[in-house]
Amino acid sequence: MKKKFMFFIATLCSLAFALSACDRAGDNGGTQLVPPQNDSPTAVSNMLVAYFSCTGTTKGVAEHIEAKTGGTLYEIVPEIPYTEADLAYYTGGRADKEQADSSARPAISGSVENMEKYKVVFLGYPIWHGQAPKIIYTFLESYDFSGKTIIPFCTSGSSGIGSSATNLHSLAASATWLDGRRFPSGTSQSAVDEWVDSLGLKFTSDVSVFDLNSGENGHAPTVTLNSGYEMPILGLGTYSLTGETCKASVKAALESGVRLIDTAHMYGNEREIGEAIRESNVPREEIFVITKIYPGEQYSHPEEAIQESLDKLNIGYIDMMLLHHPGANDVKAYKAMEKAVADGKIRSLGLSNWYIEEIDDFISQVDIRPALVQNEIHPYYQEQAVVPYMHNLGIVVQAWYPFGGRGHTGELLSDETIVKIAEAHNVTAAQVILRWHLQRGVVAIPGSSNPAHILENISVFGFSLSSEEMNEIAALDRDEKHDWY
Ligand SMILES: Cc1cc2nc3c(=O)[nH]c(=O)nc-3n(C[C@H](O)[C@H](O)[C@H](O)COP(=O)(O)O)c2cc1C
Repeated sequence: MKKKFMFFIATLCSLAFALSACDRAGDNGGTQLVPPQNDSPTAVSNMLVAYFSCTGTTKGVAEHIEAKTGGTLYEIVPEIPYTEADLAYYTGGRADKEQADSSARPAISGSVENMEKYKVVFLGYPIWHGQAPKIIYTFLESYDFSGKTIIPFCTSGSSGIGSSATNLHSLAASATWLDGRRFPSGTSQSAVDEWVDSLGLKFTSDVSVFDLNSGENGHAPTVTLNSGYEMPILGLGTYSLTGETCKASVKAALESGVRLIDTAHMYGNEREIGEAIRESNVPREEIFVITKIYPGEQYSHPEEAIQESLDKLNIGYIDMMLLHHPGANDVKAYKAMEKAVADGKIRSLGLSNWYIEEIDDFISQVDIRPALVQNEIHPYYQEQAVVPYMHNLGIVVQAWYPFGGRGHTGELLSDETIVKIAEAHNVTAAQVILRWHLQRGVVAIPGSSNPAHILENISVFGFSLSSEEMNEIAALDRDEKHDWY
């Protein structure tokens, strides 16, 4: 009831958004609902199971790997299919000739969509004359495997994997190669499961724990979203930044090492953000851009709204699109975003200002699980129930207003508990608050147009808060929301 009223108020308030004329209208942090116990986080689809198979043996093993890992199956299909005569070995046929020709690179029909989202690539092939078929060489030369792990596997009449896998290493030298494994025909699911288990791979992403030790000031670590994509755990919020100020802020952020920029149709700055990104020296693919579409006209005509963001940003694809807050036609709008994901226009989807009561109902109506929920969160409004609830669903939680928001930042930054902790670590109050967000598993998008503050906000990797200090900040919670969403 309370939430429905809040959405109504939210809609009324939308015109007054920039002035934030409406005050707090909801209370989402005090609910004591327990997350569903049997709903474990979704498998992270950052594994690709690529295989080449002419007579189905390797395909069978690949399907077992897919079943075990939840990875995406991809068949390497030759542009010119191999006929039975082509495969007849020791006849001087096509396969024999290709295997004897070091420069043979049979063409592949089609390609892997969004290869960049995969961290682990299982690569399967039949042994042909002791080696991998040359089409595997074509495959490896077609993509950039930097930062990826490749796990070869093969099937054969009797030969072992031998040198067939190690001979592939130089074709994707920037990848990490794990030892390969040969399987006979008729391999069972359990034999494959046992092998995959022995590799010790991580199938699900814990979206609430970040590798903070890998962060450096000016370089935030990433979290793996349930969509398989990596997102930096700190970014620049651009609400209230427009025109040249906005452009300069985005540029300052990129120069400081910030690689996540958060915008929204409602902020009226997507065009400037796109310009700043295009004018920067940072490659597009290193930057993660979040934007949002807004209830009302945009939810009624979501295809146009999505296209408007794509056009204004003009940076190719959008990394993440969110619904700005619940409202009429939100499921319809999300389904249009799902279609845009299928079309390669958007990579990941999420929600903003969504709480416990809405999330289960929403998830049951859509196909793609939201990867992110972006809500107001700060030490005075900690959402102590919402945060673990979302995490349990495999959803990353991101804080807007991480410092308390307009009119409240001064109070929070001078809170005596925060200041005492900041002095103990010789850092600023803002840095303590951001570090607290990250250590409790919440990513954040502080907004600023001040280059010094932007740099400060991405420099929270030289210290850590003790559990006592984390508890002291947890005790500051007043369940005090500072905006009306
Ligand atoms: C051209 C060619 C060469 C082959 N060479 C070998 C070999 O050297 N050693 C071996 O054990 N099997 C060899 N085989 C058999 C295949 O490796 C085996 O049947 C494999 O499981 C087929 O996989 P697929 O059904 O996924 O195509 C060869 C097959 C072909 C077509």
